[in-house]
Amino acid sequence: MDLLRLLSQMTIDEKIGQLVQFNANLFVDSDVDITGPMMQVGLTKENLKNVGSVLNFRDANEMRAVQDKHLSEDRNKIPMLFMMDVIHGYRTIYPIPLALGCSFDEALAKECSKMAAREAAADGVHVTFAPMVDYVRDARWGRVMESCGEEPMLNSRMGAAQVRAFRGDDLRNPDQLATCVKHFAAYGGAEAGRDYNTVELSEHVLREYYLPAYKACIDAGVDMLMPSFNSLNGVPAVANEWLMKQVLKDEWKFGGVVISDYAAVHELLTHGVAANNREAAQLAFACGCDIEMCSGAYINHLKGLIEEGIFTEQQLDEAVLRVLELKDKLGLFEDPYHGASMEKADAVSLTPENRALAKKTAAECAVLLKNDGVLPFSIDVKTIALIGPFAQENRINGVWSCKGSEKETVSVAEGVQALLPDAQIVSVRGCGNEWNDFDRSGFAEAIDAAKNADAVVLCLGEPQDYSGEGNCRTNIDLPGVQTELAKQIVQANPNTAVLLFNGRPLAISELDAFAPAILEMWFPGTEGGSAAAELLFGMCNPGGKLSMSFPRTTGQCPIYYNHPSTGRPKPAKLDGKRLHYTSNYIDCGNLPLYSFGYGLSYSNFVYESMLLDKASMTKDESIQISITVHNDSDVPGQETVQLYMRDLVASMVRPVQQLIGYEKVHLDAGECKTVKFTVTEPMLRFWNHKNQFVSERGEFELSTGYADHLLHTKRFALD
Ligand code: NOJ
Repeated sequence: MDLLRLLSQMTIDEKIGQLVQFNANLFVDSDVDITGPMMQVGLTKENLKNVGSVLNFRDANEMRAVQDKHLSEDRNKIPMLFMMDVIHGYRTIYPIPLALGCSFDEALAKECSKMAAREAAADGVHVTFAPMVDYVRDARWGRVMESCGEEPMLNSRMGAAQVRAFRGDDLRNPDQLATCVKHFAAYGGAEAGRDYNTVELSEHVLREYYLPAYKACIDAGVDMLMPSFNSLNGVPAVANEWLMKQVLKDEWKFGGVVISDYAAVHELLTHGVAANNREAAQLAFACGCDIEMCSGAYINHLKGLIEEGIFTEQQLDEAVLRVLELKDKLGLFEDPYHGASMEKADAVSLTPENRALAKKTAAECAVLLKNDGVLPFSIDVKTIALIGPFAQENRINGVWSCKGSEKETVSVAEGVQALLPDAQIVSVRGCGNEWNDFDRSGFAEAIDAAKNADAVVLCLGEPQDYSGEGNCRTNIDLPGVQTELAKQIVQANPNTAVLLFNGRPLAISELDAFAPAILEMWFPGTEGGSAAAELLFGMCNPGGKLSMSFPRTTGQCPIYYNHPSTGRPKPAKLDGKRLHYTSNYIDCGNLPLYSFGYGLSYSNFVYESMLLDKASMTKDESIQISITVHNDSDVPGQETVQLYMRDLVASMVRPVQQLIGYEKVHLDAGECKTVKFTVTEPMLRFWNHKNQFVSERGEFELSTGYADHLLHTKRFALD
């Protein structure tokens, strides 16, 4: 397609239409009334005709109908772009991204993204608003469920893997989706873990922790980028010149399409940095925001801003060209449906292969937090009691589940029954899981069921709408009376394992003190119940490692393993004494209950050694690290070997530890494997006070193990 020729034929209004996105419902019915909020937005039937992209539509039929109508009315015949939040599956749902991070498995993330792309593209989606790679430390924030957690490298690698798999090499391929990385930047740094709240972060914290994952996605070829809702150091992201121009365009040379978040351009008024929509349009467009999502600043004011000479038509053309190029890359000028149809969607969705992948992923993302030896249960148990609000619950997909239907999701009860058809299974709810539900009237029946069972599975957690956008909590305990119920169940029958369903780390110190086993399932998706059953009864061996620390109490939030050292660290041993004047709490330890990188297995992995091939290197050299792990058990399993680094003396305060490498390996029973890592100078860099990434000469420590349990620590020098 000759895009420049096309552009030269377009009027200013038509061009501006390419920079506007609205919900599908406005286009579905030609007689739709543009009333209420949409009238306030300033939409008319006339300007609606030029709109270039759509979000949130029903299916391939609706996409085709909207596209057909649009093409029949648009004299330029420019197809619309259809976008949706395909976050962790489309019809077949796999675990939430925070869980996916626990797999430490980019190949698996890729398989999942490919599956989601195939299902979504067949149903008419052209672009997914994914991956979400916001770096997160505060479990109160509901959107931690969309992120891969508190580790910049893990977040970057998982984000880049998703970009590559969603989009493939050729967007014309009808099985692929274009991608949109979000939310740029540091949305996860919302003060007090409250959604949409202010973010204030120093540049070195941004550069080292928050920004790398967005950059990794850009390097992986992401097509679009979405600025975040929050203000960053005083300026809302979409109008933040430093962020959008200096970092994104000048330094990173991002040439893809920038789309605002939902009504975020208009929200510049509520932020109080624009007096009206005209100013809002001016601020956002000047900062390189190409498409405005669901508010009316561009459609009503961009033309005036050009006519008044605030912007040139050349600037407008550049933005429009970026949008047209994306449409062209997707092949929409040749096939405006991108191969989508209801028949295709039916054929590729929720197939047995897709379900199998969802099950495998749910099993790989689960994290065994505690096991006093009760798990795995014997498959010969005769009676099993499934107790708790999640025993029969199908609402375990997690939010952002597109077309994932609860009816198609396997609950724990269904999963266990299918795995052990001859077992006698009793399911009792026992109590609710809402924060204000203190009803204990179901306890007696649950305790009775526990007493009469050979094995008990306690299915606890928080409702799925306690996490996700706008769903934040000030208290991240297990809601309601679930811990109380659990205590009485364990007393009634100690052969009990807890399964947890939740979209964020929970503060479960009390539960941890008495529960014989705890298996974190997160929101595991369509096959969650069958994966849980296989894990409980030992057909699968848990191998997940936490992507985000579990605090002991909400008051420890934000808590993260890679925190900077302080001048007064808490001594390792306090011998029960209360210590003044060190960095600690009176009423709680500093460490999390379970830290990043932690996760048990039914295998017993022994870290035998960590060897360095030399004790020092110059900036052009590298050091080889060999870590030998032994599976000292009869159970084959997967282990994620982690390599941590600490810069001992530098001109800036450095983190007490920092993950610089990981590799997931499979080890048969009794097998030994040596995993090799290479440390090079760029891995030692940090953002200094002169605003540069540098490494400094001196000594570094390397360790393996995981964040709160470092092993085989060794030093080397950078000469
Ligand atoms: C708002 C959310 O912040 C963003 O993640 C999402 O992509 C858009 N809405 C569109 O649904």
